[in-house]
Amino acid sequence: MTLGLSKRVGIATDHGGFALKEELMAQLRAVGHEVVDFGAHGLNPGDDYPDFVIPLAQAVVAGQVERGIAICGSGVGAAVCANKIPGIRAGLVHDHFSARQGVEDDHMNVICMGGRTIGPAVAWDLVETFLAAEFSGAERHLRRLGKVASLEAQLACGRQGAGTTSPGTYSGGGERTVGEKVARKS
Ligand code: RB5
Repeated sequence: MTLGLSKRVGIATDHGGFALKEELMAQLRAVGHEVVDFGAHGLNPGDDYPDFVIPLAQAVVAGQVERGIAICGSGVGAAVCANKIPGIRAGLVHDHFSARQGVEDDHMNVICMGGRTIGPAVAWDLVETFLAAEFSGAERHLRRLGKVASLEAQLACGRQGAGTTSPGTYSGGGERTVGEKVARKS
């Protein structure tokens, strides 16, 4: 289905989603996506999701991968962790509607799922839907994301008053391709 619309995708999990990650990687590659595996690279019941999710999230922000898939047992820890990285808009998604609308309206760039809460068929539908969706760029969504970006910028500067919803600006620029990002740096 996805050939011709292939993306460079990053994926990460702890032990709670290891089997699901392996299955999703095979499916992603089978339909033409390039997959960067941020681990875990083996099933280790003692591993910790931040050790894999943080590098994935940083790669998304850096433009090294276009979108991220973060998995843990429930998906909650992965979502909490990913959203600590400035520039990440991660959502815990277990339904088809949100996998699409999360991108179209909220410009979600990391989808989080639970390896212990959904099966591989549902997970694959969510991933396909997430990767096929594009941000609408609609004014109301730019306005809302501008408020989120404004808060993020205030917090980054350590300014008092962070938490106010000043309009801010949001260009929707997080959807550049990896090639475009490389070109801009050179
Ligand atoms: C690990 O056992 C589990 O806590 C983790 O994968 C995840 O579910 C956390 O949200």
